[in-house]
Amino acid sequence: MAVVKASKDAIGAAAIALRDGKLVAFPTETVYGLGADATNGRAVAAIFKAKRRPQFNPLIVHVRDVEAAAELGELTPFGRQLATAFWPGALSLVMAKQRDCPVADLATAGLDTIAVRVPSHAIAQALLRAVDRPIAAPSANLSGHVSPTTAAHVEADLGNRVAMILDGGATAVGLESTVVDVTGDVPIILRLGGVTRETIERLLGQTIAVAEGDPEKPSSPGMLARHYAPSAKLRLDALEVRNGEALIAFGRAVPKHAGPTINLSASGDLLEAAANLFSALRALDASGTETIAIMPIPEDGLGEAINDRLRRAARAP
Ligand code: TXA
Ligand code: MG
Repeated sequence: MAVVKASKDAIGAAAIALRDGKLVAFPTETVYGLGADATNGRAVAAIFKAKRRPQFNPLIVHVRDVEAAAELGELTPFGRQLATAFWPGALSLVMAKQRDCPVADLATAGLDTIAVRVPSHAIAQALLRAVDRPIAAPSANLSGHVSPTTAAHVEADLGNRVAMILDGGATAVGLESTVVDVTGDVPIILRLGGVTRETIERLLGQTIAVAEGDPEKPSSPGMLARHYAPSAKLRLDALEVRNGEALIAFGRAVPKHAGPTINLSASGDLLEAAANLFSALRALDASGTETIAIMPIPEDGLGEAINDRLRRAARAP
């Protein structure tokens, strides 16, 4: 049985599982999170696989305190003000990613920004301290289902897909964290949640805009989580490579090519391919090539999310 009461021993075992690249669901004060070692690309890919999420969206990375958060992202003055007032708590801050940020590219969906939260829940805190690594954790439900506020909810959705579910009773807030982008001149609320807009406005002494619509489909450029898009053109489903192109390969049957090549997974493992996707795009983009040819990726399992991202990147201006 995957559900265990969150005793000291169970938290220790959960920390070992997480450091070993496995998935652990755990309570926070907002909702239960589906956690993975944020520095391990394959572990992060396993989150998307377990949730059956057909898209890679950036995840919230959980850390123990403000200092740990500042190691991952740049705390602007507004960011520091919000962090001081609401951390630990139901607030996530989107910051510019630090240069040496150890978090896997897949956790931030290849973006230069990172969403970080310091949860207040005692079990989440104990787990973060025991793991001593940042934990990426979206809500612990299947894609399209509501967020879980009890261990039983998590078990119903993900019982056979996680190494362990730490049971800490019902969550207190029951709503996800409020996500605030502090990368710009003024903070912008990207998702309403546990900390209200009024509370934030009172603290900062000014009105705060709430970005409209789906953060995955930005309506006002510059405001929302934009998708990472390489500046090179992408040529999808390439069966051969043309002169001057770079190649993203998949599987064993790779066309002969003298130029820059990265194989997402020589063994055809979609989990490995997902973990390597964004760093491969970045590396080949940095090679200065005009076009990146990409071999066909099967559409099953994580392949759906990989292809979704590649199609969006191919369409980007
Ligand atoms: O309460 C919560 O926040 C829960 C618990 C488990 O902590 N976690 C959660 O995580 O809801 P997740 O990964 O499902 O939430 C991600 C949200 C999305 O709205 C996403 O678009 C936004 O945060 N987000 C993450 N990284 C971002 C980034 N770099 N830029 C803009 N938005 C980002
Ligand atoms: Mg969710």
